[in-house]
Amino acid sequence: MTDAAKSLLVIAPEPRVSEAIAASFASDAGVRVDRRTATLAGLNGHAIEALATYDVILFQTNPNDQADLAAIRELVAHRREQTKLIALADGDISLAQARALSDAGVDEVLPLPPEARTSTQGRAHAGGSRRAGRIIAVAQARGGIGSTTVAVNLADQLATGVGLRRSDPRPKVALVDLDLQFGTVGSFLDLAEQDTLLKLAMDGTVPDATFLEQSMATLPNGLSVLAAPARFAPLDALRAEQVAAILDTLRQTCDYVVVDLPRALVGWIEPVIERADEMLIVTDISVPSIRHCRRLIEFLTQDNLALPVEIVVNHQRKPLFRSKLQREAAKALDRRLDHWLPHDPSAAAVAADRGQPLSQSAPRSALGKAMRALARETRARLPAATQKSAK
Ligand SMILES: Nc1ncnc2c1ncn2[C@@H]1O[C@H](COP(=O)(O)OP(=O)(O)OP(=O)(O)O)[C@@H](O)[C@H]1O
Ligand SMILES: [Mg+2]
Repeated sequence: MTDAAKSLLVIAPEPRVSEAIAASFASDAGVRVDRRTATLAGLNGHAIEALATYDVILFQTNPNDQADLAAIRELVAHRREQTKLIALADGDISLAQARALSDAGVDEVLPLPPEARTSTQGRAHAGGSRRAGRIIAVAQARGGIGSTTVAVNLADQLATGVGLRRSDPRPKVALVDLDLQFGTVGSFLDLAEQDTLLKLAMDGTVPDATFLEQSMATLPNGLSVLAAPARFAPLDALRAEQVAAILDTLRQTCDYVVVDLPRALVGWIEPVIERADEMLIVTDISVPSIRHCRRLIEFLTQDNLALPVEIVVNHQRKPLFRSKLQREAAKALDRRLDHWLPHDPSAAAVAADRGQPLSQSAPRSALGKAMRALARETRARLPAATQKSAK
C-alpha cells in the first residue's frame, strides 16, 4: 500500500483512530497523511467528491450503518480509478458485514489499530462481541421433526442442572422461541399467552434488559421463556437489530440461551447465526431430510464458518451397528451422527397433554433419558463460564 501511496486520507469520528494511523506513517516522508474527524456519512456528498482524489482513503466504519454504506457507494462512484478505499472496522465484524463492505465497493477491510480499539469496542453492535452466556440455536431439517421438543427439553435440563453436582449453583437459562408465526414453546410449557415478540414486531422498538425481564415467563426451575406470539405476526416484521438486542441482553445475564429457530430462513436470524456457539439440527435420516440438512448447514455456516453444528437424529434409537442408510446419511453430511432420540410417542404425548417438560412428565421414559443425555453432552461441550469445574 505505502509504495504507491503519496496522499493518504484518514476519515474517523474518533481522533485516536486517525492519530494511530498517522503515527504509523510518521517516519515515511513520501506519504502525506490528512485527517478528517467525521464519519463517512457525516461528510456531505460534495466533500466526498473533493476527497476522492487521494491515493488512499482509510475510513472508520460501522458496517451495520446503512448511511455509512450509502456514503461508501457515493465515494466509490466519485473516486479516481487508482484511489484505494480501505475500511477500518472492529476486529470482530462478521463475514456478512465484511461482505456488505466489499459489495459497497471497498477494496480492503482492515481491523482497527489495536491502540485505537478500546474506545470503539462494542460500537458496531452493542455487546456483540461480549461472550458471557452460550447461545445454542436449534434448527430443523423438516417441519414437525421435533426441534421444539429438543429446544424445550434441552433448556429445561440445562436449567435443572444436568451433569452438575448438587452443591453447584444452577445455571441461568433462557429459552427464546423465534418461530414467530408457528412457535409452540408456550404450549409445550403451558404458559399464558405472551405478545412480547408481536409487540416488538409491530412497534419496532429495540428491547432492553428491563423490557425482557418484565415480559419473559419464569418457570419453577428458573428457566426464563420468551414465547412466540399467540396472534399472527408478519414474518418480515421483526428486525435483525431487535433479535441481536434480545440475544445480547440475555447472554449478559444467562449462562445459556437456547433459541428455537423458525423454518423460514429470514434475514433476522442472521444475528443468531453470528452469535451462536453451537447449532443443533434435528433431522431424521430419510433422503429428503438429509438433503435439506446439508443445504441448511451450507447456508448456516456461510455467515459463521466456525459455527459448530451437531446433528440430532430424532425418532430413532442410537444403533449398535449402523445400517447402510445411516452410514450414507453421515457421509452425505460429512459429520458424525452423535445424538439419537428414540421414537417415544407415549412420553411425547404425556408431555404435550400436561404442558410439562419431559423431566417432569416422563423422566424415566426412553425419550426423557435420551434428552437428559443430550443436555449432559451439550453442557460438557459448552461448559458455562461460571461452572467450568463441574463435569
Ligand atoms: N422422539 C419422539 N417420539 C415421539 N414423538 C415425538 C418425538 N419427538 C417429537 N415428537 C412429537 O412430534 C410432534 C412434533 O414435534 P415438535 O413440535 O417438537 O417438532 P418441530 O420440528 O418443532 O415442529 P414444527 O415444524 O411445528 O416447529 C410433537 O407432537 C412431539 O411431541
Ligand atoms: Mg417447532
